[in-house]
Amino acid sequence: MRGWILLLILARLVNLSMTQPTNSLTWLSYLRNRAYSHGYGRSHNGNYASLRNEDEPSVLDCPLECDCPPAYPKAMYCNNRKLQHVPFVPSHIKYVYLQNNQITGITNGVFDNAPNLTWIIMHANKLTSDKIGDKVFAKLPNLQRLFLQNNNLSRVPQDLPHSLRDLHLNHNNISVVPLNSFHGMSNLTALYLQANAIEDLGNALKGLLSLTVLDLRGNRLKMIPQSLPPKLSQLYLEYNYISSIPADFLSQRPDLRFVRLSHNQLTNGGIPANAFNVSTLVELDLSFNKLERIPTISTSLENLYLQANKIKEFSVSSFCRVVDTNNYSNLRVLRLEANEITPRDIPNEAVLCLRLATNIDL
Ligand SMILES: *[C@@H]1O[C@H](CO)[C@@H](O)[C@H](O)[C@H]1NC(C)=O
Ligand SMILES: *[C@@H]1O[C@H](CO)[C@@H](O)[C@H](O)[C@H]1NC(C)=O
Ligand SMILES: *[C@@H]1O[C@H](CO)[C@@H](O)[C@H](O)[C@H]1NC(C)=O
Ligand SMILES: *[C@@H]1O[C@H](CO)[C@@H](O)[C@H](O)[C@H]1NC(C)=O
Ligand SMILES: *[C@@H]1O[C@H](CO)[C@@H](O)[C@H](O)[C@H]1NC(C)=O
Ligand SMILES: *[C@@H]1O[C@H](CO)[C@@H](O)[C@H](O)[C@H]1NC(C)=O
Repeated sequence: MRGWILLLILARLVNLSMTQPTNSLTWLSYLRNRAYSHGYGRSHNGNYASLRNEDEPSVLDCPLECDCPPAYPKAMYCNNRKLQHVPFVPSHIKYVYLQNNQITGITNGVFDNAPNLTWIIMHANKLTSDKIGDKVFAKLPNLQRLFLQNNNLSRVPQDLPHSLRDLHLNHNNISVVPLNSFHGMSNLTALYLQANAIEDLGNALKGLLSLTVLDLRGNRLKMIPQSLPPKLSQLYLEYNYISSIPADFLSQRPDLRFVRLSHNQLTNGGIPANAFNVSTLVELDLSFNKLERIPTISTSLENLYLQANKIKEFSVSSFCRVVDTNNYSNLRVLRLEANEITPRDIPNEAVLCLRLATNIDL
């Protein structure tokens, strides 16, 4: 008997789904969710095993426009289907996939029914900042991963949960980063902001105690951001307008291993004497800048990229302060092509100093 009611409801929904616009579908999904929670369609004799897993609501309360495979009961797949709105999200869902649609906005409340949401994957839509409610993400205390890259956001969304670990906002049009944007996100480990229009981050990065990866490639920065996070290990700043760096920007950060500053406006005048002479750094990319001399680096550095600058001399003292059997550079890769030096400019003691280098490009 109950089985018949379920079949009728399903048949009617399938019928309607042919003719109803997206908004009605959201409403119908909600209705179906309620039907389930009132016990209709609950099978005790296994008749509907092919329809859904026993005692598993994931198939039944799934919005019609999405897939909720029984094998992944906490996931809802709504990606790649031309959606213009966020569908109803059932309360037990933890992972929602909405990427590659045509969603332009998110209204307050759409995620409030699912407080355990852990991942929201929403890249490659048409989101603009003025169509995202100011409290859309505010009631998601378990959200760890938020993918909003490849949209058309002009500002960092407000009230993002402190629980975030992985935040992708790259490839938008973000120029506004309110001061408190990342406030309290003490578990955030990766922040992707590349390919935006950011001119200044102010102190916005302060308090990101766990951040290890910061990607700011392709913005409009004129300075290295202030208050770089203390545990940062990879810093990507390529394709900005940075012309100088602060003297202590590396010495305060023992975990920083990779620093990429290629395609900026750096000159030797903008680089304080020992700014890059820190033993923790493993890779330094200064290619495509305006350097005329090789900056002093630590003997611990392994990869140094200096191609496409205006370097006129090969100064061994930049790599080794003392050259003897015990004192030499750990440099493995040195790229110097597209500068103003030739192999004849390399002094003999360079061989001793750079004895570990397997790859020197001139
Ligand atoms: C959220 O998760 C907690 C802990 O796993 C669980 O007790 C609770 O029922 C879940 N809430 C919903 C709405 O599913
Ligand atoms: C992005 O949004 C702006 C308004 O903020 C609008 O003028 C522009 O046309 C949008 N661009 C695209 C590619 O949708
Ligand atoms: C950070 O992660 C820890 C461990 O998982 C958790 O206990 C804590 O609540 C998280 N902090 C925030 C702000 O969510
Ligand atoms: C980016 O935002 C600026 C305003 O800040 C606007 O003039 C421009 O059209 C936007 N670019 C795109 C591709 O939407
Ligand atoms: C680089 O730093 C080391 C260790 O702090 C120091 O001994 C050395 O003199 C510095 N190199 C130069 C060229 O100043
Ligand atoms: C040179 O090598 C010796 C022996 O390893 C070491 O004690 C000394 O500090 C090194 N000098 C420099 C300037 O690195």
